[in-house]
Amino acid sequence: MHINKNLSKKIICWYDNNKRTLPWRVKFNSPKKLYYRLLSEFMLQQTQVKTVLPYFKRFTKEIETLTRLSTTNKRKIFKLWEGLGYYRRATNLLKTAKIITKENNSILPKNLNEIKKLPGIGDYTGNILLALVYNQPRLGIDGNVKRVFSRILNKHENKLNFEKIIEKNKKKLFNSKRNSDFAEALMEFGALICKPRDPHCKICPIKKTCKFYGSGNTKKLTDRIRANKLSYNIFCYLNKKKQIGLTKNNNLGFLKEYNLPIVRKKLGKKSFKNWNFLCNYKNSISNKKLDINLYYKFANRIPKDLNWHSLYNKRVFVPTFTKKIFRQVENLY
Ligand code: ADE
Repeated sequence: MHINKNLSKKIICWYDNNKRTLPWRVKFNSPKKLYYRLLSEFMLQQTQVKTVLPYFKRFTKEIETLTRLSTTNKRKIFKLWEGLGYYRRATNLLKTAKIITKENNSILPKNLNEIKKLPGIGDYTGNILLALVYNQPRLGIDGNVKRVFSRILNKHENKLNFEKIIEKNKKKLFNSKRNSDFAEALMEFGALICKPRDPHCKICPIKKTCKFYGSGNTKKLTDRIRANKLSYNIFCYLNKKKQIGLTKNNNLGFLKEYNLPIVRKKLGKKSFKNWNFLCNYKNSISNKKLDINLYYKFANRIPKDLNWHSLYNKRVFVPTFTKKIFRQVENLY
């Protein structure tokens, strides 16, 4: 696999001239740099920059340092996270902030195995934090970076072992001393130039050595994103006290927080017996397009893995989307 030795220099040069001004990119010294990078990377997991921006600004205005974060109560953090979704990130962020400040002298571990022991930090976040905070020669292999490499090599993403490519081309890729900027520049380049649907090949600084561009097929995209439309059913158990049944056991990989029971697979007619159809929602969560049928029934008892919660209890934390459903079912009373 051939990676051009000027790749990083060209991408960094492009980045210097074209990068977005983002609050976590300001050059800070150590404690603030660590806090801003940690917070932004947690927020950016599964969420786009433009969505994260206002949340990041509000969060850092309210909670100014990592030490302060480590002693903030969870309810306040959840309030600041409200609407951003994937609340497990907020829980993990708090746990990680506590460990770093209390057990690690406010220092981020410097090696990948150690950093990955922190809650919410896997391969991607571990690598990108080590690159961004310590200038280590690493890349966070997110969707953007995968796309850039698969276009350069004109190979389908599923056919590439990115870790191996990076390991094999380490000397060529990290030849600028600006490892942190290179890691961030690649993501930025993927987001702004080498875009999923309409890559800006004409103005691309590395088109000469890009095999996708060289193939002349830039209109016929290899990785056209097909919206994976998925059908779900949500079941609202309601009782006379204006309470609704919530569960912590949804096993979908998203909506992991306390939520209404949601079932993906196509259910037989029997499953809907005694249930009333309320409405259909089209909703997008991350890159998933959801098509949701909402059902309700009034009941005195609920299955074991559900608990009753008042529709008006603001202290119980649920995602924004679920709150919308609460407001819908209120009309049934
Ligand atoms: N996605 C995750 N981290 C990012 C960063 N630092 N810049 C742009 N996109 C990102």
